[in-house]
Amino acid sequence: DTGLRGAARGTGTRIGTAVDMNALANDPAYKAAVAREFDTVTPENVMKWSEVEPTQGTYNWGPADDLIKFARSNGQKVRGHTLVWHSQLPSWINETDFTKAQLRDLLRRHIFAEAGHFKGKIWAWDVVNEPLNEDGTLRDTIWLRALGPGYIADAFRWAHQADPSAILFINDYNAEWLSPKTDAYYKLVKDLRRQHVPVQGFGMQGHLGIQYGLPGDVLENVKRFDALGVKTAFTEVDVRMILPSDQYRTQAQAEGFGLMLRACLLVKNCISYTVWGFTDKYNWVPGVFSGEGEATPMDDQMQPKPAYDTLRETF
Ligand code: XIL
Repeated sequence: DTGLRGAARGTGTRIGTAVDMNALANDPAYKAAVAREFDTVTPENVMKWSEVEPTQGTYNWGPADDLIKFARSNGQKVRGHTLVWHSQLPSWINETDFTKAQLRDLLRRHIFAEAGHFKGKIWAWDVVNEPLNEDGTLRDTIWLRALGPGYIADAFRWAHQADPSAILFINDYNAEWLSPKTDAYYKLVKDLRRQHVPVQGFGMQGHLGIQYGLPGDVLENVKRFDALGVKTAFTEVDVRMILPSDQYRTQAQAEGFGLMLRACLLVKNCISYTVWGFTDKYNWVPGVFSGEGEATPMDDQMQPKPAYDTLRETF
C-alpha cells in the first residue's frame, strides 16, 4: 500500500474517508485516491434514512451496495452511517401522520431493515448519531419525543439483533474536548454498558474550525473513554477555516488533524480515524458554513496539503 494507507499499516488504527458516491462514479482520480489512501470507507449520505427509504416501503439500497462492492474489491472495511438520527429523515416520517407507538415501530423496522440488509458487510455502525446537546442533556428529537430516553438503548439492542457481528458505535460532534457535553457522553455510555446495552464504541466526529481553537485536551478526553474498555474512533474529521486560507491557517489546520490522530494512536482501542472527505474538490463545508472551507487534507486539485503530510508523519 501507498499513501496514508501504507503509513497506517500495522498501527492498529485504520485510516478512512467519507465517500461521495457521485464523485466515485464520475471522477477517476477521486476513485483511485479512495482506493490508494484509505482502508475504511463511510458513505457520506447514501445509507441515511432519507436515501434508503425515500417513500415508505420503497427501499433504495443500490448506491450503498455499490460502495460495499467497491470496498470489498479494494480490501477496505465499511463504516455504516447512520441508523438513528434527527436529520436527513424522509419527509414521510413526521409526528402528525404517526402516533408515538407507530414511530417506535417504524424506527425498529428501519433498523432491522437496514442493518439486516447489510448484515455481515458492515465493520462498524454509527447506530445513534448526535444524541446530545452542548449542555449534556439529550437532544430534543422526534425519537426522544416518541420513545423517551430509552430510544438509545432500544436502537442498540435492535441493531445488535439485526447484525450481531458489527461493532456498534454512538457518535457525536464536539465530543473531542472536555466539556459538559463530553461528561454526559462518558456517563451515557457508562450507564448503557452497566445495563448491558450492546454499545461498543464512542465516535468523535472531529469537526473542528481553527477559528475556535484546537482541542488541546483531546487526549485526556479520549483516554477516559478508552478506559471504559470500549472502542473509540474519530469518525468525521475535518478542520475548516474562514476563507481565504493562508499559510498560518493551513498550518493550524494541519495541527488540528495531527492532534486528533496522535490522541487516537496514543490510546489502546482507537480503531479508526476517518476524514469527512479528503479533497476540497468535493466537500460539504462551503455549503453549510458560509464563508468557510478548505477543510480537508488535499486541495481542490487533489494535491496534498500540510495536513496530509502531518497525517502521514504522525502514523
Ligand atoms: C453531511 C454530508 O457531508 C452532506 O453531504 C449532507 O448534505 C449533510 O450531511 N455530521 C454527520 C454527517 O454525522 O452525516 C454530516 O454529513 C455532517 C455532520
